[in-house]
Amino acid sequence: MSPFYDYFAGVFEQKYRNAALKQLNIASGEIVLEIGFGTGHCLKQIAEAVGEEGRVYGIDISSGMLVASRRRLEKAGLWSRVDLTCDDAVKMPYTDNQFDAVFSSFTLELFDSPEIPQLLAEIRRVLRPEGRVGVVSMSKEYGASPLMRSYEWFHQKLPQYIDCRPIYVEQAIKDAGFSIQHKERVSLVGLPGDIVIGAKPASSV
Ligand SMILES: C[S@@+](CC[C@H](N)C(=O)[O-])C[C@H]1O[C@@H](n2cnc3c(N)ncnc32)[C@H](O)[C@@H]1O
Repeated sequence: MSPFYDYFAGVFEQKYRNAALKQLNIASGEIVLEIGFGTGHCLKQIAEAVGEEGRVYGIDISSGMLVASRRRLEKAGLWSRVDLTCDDAVKMPYTDNQFDAVFSSFTLELFDSPEIPQLLAEIRRVLRPEGRVGVVSMSKEYGASPLMRSYEWFHQKLPQYIDCRPIYVEQAIKDAGFSIQHKERVSLVGLPGDIVIGAKPASSV
């Protein structure tokens, strides 16, 4: 989907990605990971925010998305600040405590339910103590409207086309041992979503 992803998803999701990035409050010199970077809109913003002293890492399972992101970053003159990997984020190739912040937009809700705690445990492992995680995702927390029920029905029947579904975002992040710093409800074309920022405890194993 990488060649045409921006035409159908990029535009309406942009507002929420930007709001989540603002809350993550990335500073110059930080080392930041993005999971499921897609066509690289947020990678570009993160690379600008970390500046020349910082570094951005990204992991995405799609080689097409990696090509699209590389093109965007090269065009912006930011490629030298970025290190991209094509792999499944459940098996991250990064070392413990490597990052100041981890960001992920519209990706956590694609993972299979048993994989969500595994992914969040990996995020906690690679974050330094007091490091932040920022997620924007469809949310199941606000009840089942008729629109939500239809969406979930399509996800169950046609997962090859409707591959994501609403999840309990804040609870999953809490269960992974993060303290919640910020939570904001958003509306994704009538479907509820959440922006959640969590922090890894100062002393944790
Ligand atoms: C819905 S897109 C969101 C892209 C981008 N974050 C955005 O907001 O526009 C989800 C992205 O997650 C990637 N992805 C899906 N499963 C993944 C996995 N297991 N590991 C890493 N990336 C994955 C997809 O290739 C895709 O680029």
